[in-house]
Amino acid sequence: MTLADIPTPALLVDVAALNRNITTMARFFSEGSCRLRPHFKAHKTPEIAKRQLAAGSCVGLTCATVSEAEIAATFCDDILIANEIIGADKCARVALLARGAGVHGPRNITIAIDSEEGLKQMAAAIADREGPRRSEPDPLIGILVDINVGQNRCGVAPGADALALAQRVAATTGVRLRGVMGYEGHLQPIPDRAEREHKASAAMADLVATAHLLQQAGLPCEIVSGGGTGTFDISGRVPGVTEIQAGSYALMDTDYARLNLPFEHAFSVLGTVVSTPRDGYCVADCGHKSTTKDHGLPSVKGIPGATVVLLNDEHAGIALPQGSALKIGDRIELWPSHTDPTVNLHDLFYAVENGRVVDIWPIAARGYRNR
Ligand SMILES: Cc1ncc(COP(=O)(O)O)c(C=O)c1O
Repeated sequence: MTLADIPTPALLVDVAALNRNITTMARFFSEGSCRLRPHFKAHKTPEIAKRQLAAGSCVGLTCATVSEAEIAATFCDDILIANEIIGADKCARVALLARGAGVHGPRNITIAIDSEEGLKQMAAAIADREGPRRSEPDPLIGILVDINVGQNRCGVAPGADALALAQRVAATTGVRLRGVMGYEGHLQPIPDRAEREHKASAAMADLVATAHLLQQAGLPCEIVSGGGTGTFDISGRVPGVTEIQAGSYALMDTDYARLNLPFEHAFSVLGTVVSTPRDGYCVADCGHKSTTKDHGLPSVKGIPGATVVLLNDEHAGIALPQGSALKIGDRIELWPSHTDPTVNLHDLFYAVENGRVVDIWPIAARGYRNR
């Protein structure tokens, strides 16, 4: 099968580039004491996650949702849901997931919490847990206290508030305190390396200081987790940070490409030219139902001077360079500006090597069938 045989719009993954990105990141974390816990939400694709784990330097996977964790648990035994889990149904699913046997050994499920209410709901689900029991005692669900390191999304304040919540966790049945996490998401896109470095180091210093506070109070704190693709080599070298949650690096979008990171574009949206209404302009069938625009318009791969100027539901309008011979029926590829939500629009990746489709990878955790 070649690209010309694929019904469009479709998502392509360049297997060689993906493998290079995965290897580069694994190599970085093979040195120093910090390890990688790749974020599954970036691609939601078991085949990609398995390659990340096989490359080494990983302590497990990070997930954003319960349904991602349920799918990740079919091949990975150590999962952090780096998010608040609220609602009886979702807490019950986490409680059941934690009771299940792992694939290679015991299964380890850890979640983030930032409120007593969240802790109460998880503890209630553990106490009420139904379903198949194991002969040995139920495994405890790991808890990281989620700290606001400046993103102002979720998270308790570093310091005394975090310590108070950690003490509540330590006193709660069915769970075990494992440490803290703080995602410096607001710092990931800072274009200036020195500024990004300065601010991310300060944010992680706040997180590590809170970890020390827990330890001084006699509480366990084996995990200090943060970081993303924009800060992996900054936060990942701050003493005391134990794991990094980067995800976008595997596929790379144009937003992150601005930062001169050591990763390359490994995915694209394939479209077909459906109209050439005037000179220097064409329309392809890959609108924002196939590539998101919350981080800006996508870029055109492989045609210097071609620019996406319009992205409607089903249509991408592309300004073409002088003399372009692009015609109706030709294929074009767009590099998306934002990885995670673009992947979430598709059911599968066409895995491409040397211009040929070598495999089809289900994006098994995509969508919102059961969150
Ligand atoms: C909590 C959390 N950790 C890690 C990441 C990974 O980020 P990146 O896309 O920079 O790899 C994200 C992304 O949004 C996130 O929300």
